[in-house]
Amino acid sequence: MQLEQVHIKSAFKFEAEHPTAGDRGIRAMAGAMYELLDEPEIQSAYDDILKFNPTLGAEDKGPYVVNKSWRAFQRNFMGVVKGNRWDTADDPSPLIYIPRHFYPERFIDDQDYAKQHISSLFRINEQGLTPLRDEFVYHVSFLEVVSNIAERAKTIKAVTQIFQPRWSEPAAILDGGCSQNQILKALRTNYRFESQQLLGGYSETNQDPDSYWVDPRMSRVMRRLMAETVEIGDSAGIDNRNIRDLGFRLWAIACSFRPEELLNIRSVNHQLDLMNAQPTGVGFLEADLREAPTKLLNKLHRQGQKYKIVLLSTVLYQLRQEDQQKVLNNMWEMVDDDGIMIVQDAIKPLSDNKDFTCTGDFNTKFMYRTLVKDKAHPDFGWQEYFVSENGRVSKLVPGLGYVAVTGSAEMGIPEALQRVGNRLL
Ligand SMILES: C[S@@+](CC[C@H](N)C(=O)[O-])C[C@H]1O[C@@H](n2cnc3c(N)ncnc32)[C@H](O)[C@@H]1O
Repeated sequence: MQLEQVHIKSAFKFEAEHPTAGDRGIRAMAGAMYELLDEPEIQSAYDDILKFNPTLGAEDKGPYVVNKSWRAFQRNFMGVVKGNRWDTADDPSPLIYIPRHFYPERFIDDQDYAKQHISSLFRINEQGLTPLRDEFVYHVSFLEVVSNIAERAKTIKAVTQIFQPRWSEPAAILDGGCSQNQILKALRTNYRFESQQLLGGYSETNQDPDSYWVDPRMSRVMRRLMAETVEIGDSAGIDNRNIRDLGFRLWAIACSFRPEELLNIRSVNHQLDLMNAQPTGVGFLEADLREAPTKLLNKLHRQGQKYKIVLLSTVLYQLRQEDQQKVLNNMWEMVDDDGIMIVQDAIKPLSDNKDFTCTGDFNTKFMYRTLVKDKAHPDFGWQEYFVSENGRVSKLVPGLGYVAVTGSAEMGIPEALQRVGNRLL
């Protein structure tokens, strides 16, 4: 076994013993991989991965490789790749009980099963080929991380600025599934976002991503909004992982950077500084979002008071379908009467009934959406505020939704953004 593989093996061991964001699913996968890494065909797969992408061999890239392996298995298990090659629908295992296109964080929690399944992927087929193994190697070597937790605060910042005139005080925000609380900390500390915002125009008649164009006027408004400090009230994040757990912290980093970016110590430090920041007015509660809302509110140091903004960012895709509705209902209960709820995730375009489906498909461009539901106007349903190229939110367009900030005056999202921008300009 190569030295680099020793690092990778210990990263799998660590993840198996301290399961982080993907909970029992990742624990099972990591435990299985830890045992399987001594087998020649799996060793040879990681040899190839390290050959194709040597940056993954550095000691501190272990968690990143675990993360990428997990994502590659997710695609594999769920047949996310289009076409039938990866279709696992015929798999007789009773453990596969959710539709394809959903992440298996929620379905493989048995280590022996994970082991069997992983081994079967590396087996040679009747034609003497190993297509699944080769696809796995390709994904771990080359597929990029399409998320960055801190950067996702951009859309939340913009929505907060749009709504702030409605409220007499800075908005108290509740962030469900907050990870290391980067979003609230980014708002509170006026985090410098890593990449320049590009806001494309949006054709109302044609939602094809290729028809987006860069709108310099809107870009300017957005840059202005991002530079501004936004005041937030007494806010808190909830996560069912322990925020201090080292594995959880490493996972949050692994989820937010591409390998070559990990070599850029300044950008990693920037995010580490954010994770280490302890701004006042940003609390954390270790709890399960499926718990009763009154119970959660009572644990939250605001004497059971509700929140102006309740957020679920990139959390729904991790929940079983029956839990998605439950968590949505719970979070809605915690929204103040004149407050709003924000959901952002890989979400299917809205249909006329103003509802949505969480697809969990983060690899299709412009599938990542930011939706808002207004408690003062529940009849509006879920309104689309932003559509982002991916979960890094570096290229985004204003959505087709509309907003009524005060009274009943309604306006489209670009107009709402411009209003805030004009106030600031
Ligand atoms: C992909 S991360 C998203 C982090 C951050 N909100 C963002 O936008 O990047 C999903 C987070 O949801 C948390 N989570 C998943 N299910 C949960 C549950 N039932 N209760 C509380 N937190 C949960 C996970 O632990 C993880 O930190």
